[in-house]
Amino acid sequence: MKIAVIGTGYVGLVTGTCFAEVGIDVTCIDIDQKKIDNLHQGILPIYEPGLEEMVTRNVEKGRLHFSTDLTEAIKDCDVAFIAVGTPPGEDGSADLKYVLAVARGIGEHMSSYGVIVTKSTVPVGTAAKVRAEIEKALAKRGTDASAIEFDVASNPEFLKEGAAIDDFLKPDRIVVGIASDRAEEVMRRLYKPFLLNGHPIIFMDIPSAEMTKYAANAMLATKISFMNDVANLCEIMGADVNMVRRGIGSDARIGTKFIYPGIGYGGSCFPKDVKALIKTAQENGYDMQVLRAVEGVNENQKSVLFNKLSQHFGGELRGLKIAVWGLSFKPKTDDMREAPSLVIIEKLLAAGCIVMAYDPVAMPEARHSLGDTITYAKDEFEALIDADALLVVTEWPDFRAPNFEVVGRLMKQKNIFDGRNIYDASELKDIGFVYHCIGIKTDHKEPARA
Ligand SMILES: NC(=O)c1ccc[n+]([C@@H]2O[C@H](COP(=O)([O-])OP(=O)(O)OC[C@H]3O[C@@H](n4cnc5c(N)ncnc54)[C@H](O)[C@@H]3O)[C@@H](O)[C@H]2O)c1
Repeated sequence: MKIAVIGTGYVGLVTGTCFAEVGIDVTCIDIDQKKIDNLHQGILPIYEPGLEEMVTRNVEKGRLHFSTDLTEAIKDCDVAFIAVGTPPGEDGSADLKYVLAVARGIGEHMSSYGVIVTKSTVPVGTAAKVRAEIEKALAKRGTDASAIEFDVASNPEFLKEGAAIDDFLKPDRIVVGIASDRAEEVMRRLYKPFLLNGHPIIFMDIPSAEMTKYAANAMLATKISFMNDVANLCEIMGADVNMVRRGIGSDARIGTKFIYPGIGYGGSCFPKDVKALIKTAQENGYDMQVLRAVEGVNENQKSVLFNKLSQHFGGELRGLKIAVWGLSFKPKTDDMREAPSLVIIEKLLAAGCIVMAYDPVAMPEARHSLGDTITYAKDEFEALIDADALLVVTEWPDFRAPNFEVVGRLMKQKNIFDGRNIYDASELKDIGFVYHCIGIKTDHKEPARA
């Protein structure tokens, strides 16, 4: 089989590489010339564990190609995946201009039957728009071209950044929206290598597949905001959210996953997808009340760590040196889109703090938005030197069990504000730290000094 993947970002590059890994001939297309030039030299545009080796291997095997030219890639290809961004427009709805531009390009160059698949997260009705755009472009080319048959399909992607390769190669499920038996047969054949271990492929109509992706992300965002709400109340009432989490998670109907409190969800998906679903509903005369609350809770939650810090220092933050551990929106990625760290750092800077941050991979990406407003440390320990407080923002494995003896020695004041609940409150208290986390009242009266 021969496929094209258009859009070589987090989703497109992983998708293309994983299809190449099982022996399929793949061309990854991007409009960004620099990205493609770099890929030709083995330089990846993103950090994703294991991806670099996999790209190199498949390029060497001659199965994975990169280009900015859609013309050749789309000719005679069996399946073309649209994997470009769908960022939020000003009103919160998904901006489809990149998706539709690609659809036009496909119509301008396709030469035989193929299945055109939206892998980007797109609202219900987008596949129909993609079909219309392709038909228009084919018609412009004349009668021969307008006779070319094609199918559209929706195949939303559920990979998680940081675990994307595993998620793609061993998916919990593959969802495919189709409108013809022919498209179903092509998609079944394409995904067969990923289904050998019994992972299910779920075929459905196209609107349901488009909605499935939004419903999944909205549900996950809801779990996070719900748990953050519970955590905040636990703190007020003197309950321990970690205990509550374990208590409720043991109920099989609730489950243990995605019920960890923190400092709010971020990333390129949850914030924009929740917004887009609220907007789709509004446009169709329906009010997604739960999701509006989910968004509201999330916005507040991004300030929780800063508020704790401010309260601890009685609002006197000017001139304090604050160490920040973790910048990416979650561990094992360099993705800074909508990262809670950005909100926290903006607040710290506005309050007159001096910020020194460390992140194992996201610092180059963070520089794009933060520039030189903060200092970037060479490792987590350098960030602590003379710090008045440490804020744990992203729970990278590197931060989970630091040598607290060294931590305490480097800091000016032994204050830790843990936005991810990764440390043990009593252990830290015993060794002289003031420790604040999410959803547990840690009752320290006196800030300890190193
Ligand atoms: N990142 C994730 O974890 C994730 C997971 C599931 C679904 N999604 C969805 O997948 C889609 C892509 O997300 P992403 O994070 O990979 O985005 P991204 O921004 O990392 O990548 C998009 C790429 O598309 C390219 N592009 C834009 N217009 C183009 C065109 N006309 N022709 C060729 N290339 C073009 C851009 O240059 C960019 O490299 C979005 O709809 C997103 O919601 C993302």
